[in-house]
Amino acid sequence: MKTTERVLIIGSSGQIGGELTEGLRAIYGNDNVIASDIKDLDKESLKDAAPYETLNVLNGKRLFEIVQKYEITQVYLLAALLSATAEKNPMFAWDLNMNGLFNVLDLAKEGHISKVYWPSSIAVFGPSTPKTSTPQFTIMEPNTVYGISKQTGERWCEYYFNKYGVDVRSIRYPGLIGYKTAPGGGTTDYAVHIYHEAIKNNHYECFLSENTTLPMMYMPDAIKATIDLMHADASKVKIRSSYNLSGMSFSPKEIADEIKNHFPDFTISYKPDSRQLIADSWPQSIDDSAARNDWGWKAQFDLKQMTQDMFSHLVK
Ligand code: SER
Repeated sequence: MKTTERVLIIGSSGQIGGELTEGLRAIYGNDNVIASDIKDLDKESLKDAAPYETLNVLNGKRLFEIVQKYEITQVYLLAALLSATAEKNPMFAWDLNMNGLFNVLDLAKEGHISKVYWPSSIAVFGPSTPKTSTPQFTIMEPNTVYGISKQTGERWCEYYFNKYGVDVRSIRYPGLIGYKTAPGGGTTDYAVHIYHEAIKNNHYECFLSENTTLPMMYMPDAIKATIDLMHADASKVKIRSSYNLSGMSFSPKEIADEIKNHFPDFTISYKPDSRQLIADSWPQSIDDSAARNDWGWKAQFDLKQMTQDMFSHLVK
């Protein structure tokens, strides 16, 4: 019998992975949280005594070796291609986002691990979805390869739960904003870049148009939600596809106005590119009452509080 949880994070160098590794190490201890990513760590980072493994999640054999080596009980699978990058290489995105998930779900199905976390996204929604207060259960016709892979992944998670009893849990993240880790290849990345550019150049050229409102969330809220969901009693996790989660909603113009409260000379210009079409297909706000009712979710940060906190850390 294993007495301690041993957690494997796949994609630990990414935007969510970095912060989640930190959060989980604070709970389970450094040695019980194994970070892994496709990248080799530089020598400096490897000196920090916490365990790290180089792993391509598509290599099922290596994944299994790591799970056995550390007697892993839970996997957080964060390795994926995000919306903008996926459009540039649709077949690779499909392969990574789907077969990575199958490799992990199958470990649970075969009884090697007991719990799986897998992130979904607001990208599961499409142009025909109601745009505001998007319900948990609604029309879902995503038109990006990323969205299609996340929607399909949700169906498979629910299937593995119903058919094989796999304890898999998931959240549909909105755009995530944090100061510790850089985003990689998403449509909502602008909301992170804008803070850095405000400090460096007092100007930002935005790749989305000024009134493109999207659902967003501050990273501490996202990490808390993830950890809360994974620690919720299994009977409370009634949705095994993925939970809607809401933090705040804003447009480039609204975040720029908030930034001006800190940097009065800050200016923004707009030069929409191919990411505009992706953003236009997504909701503007999300109804997360299922997450609130089932496992007590509530966001803490609004745009004002987030901006305050971002600058207090970034300016340092
Ligand atoms: N932030 C993600 C993206 O823009 C949405 O899940 O791709």
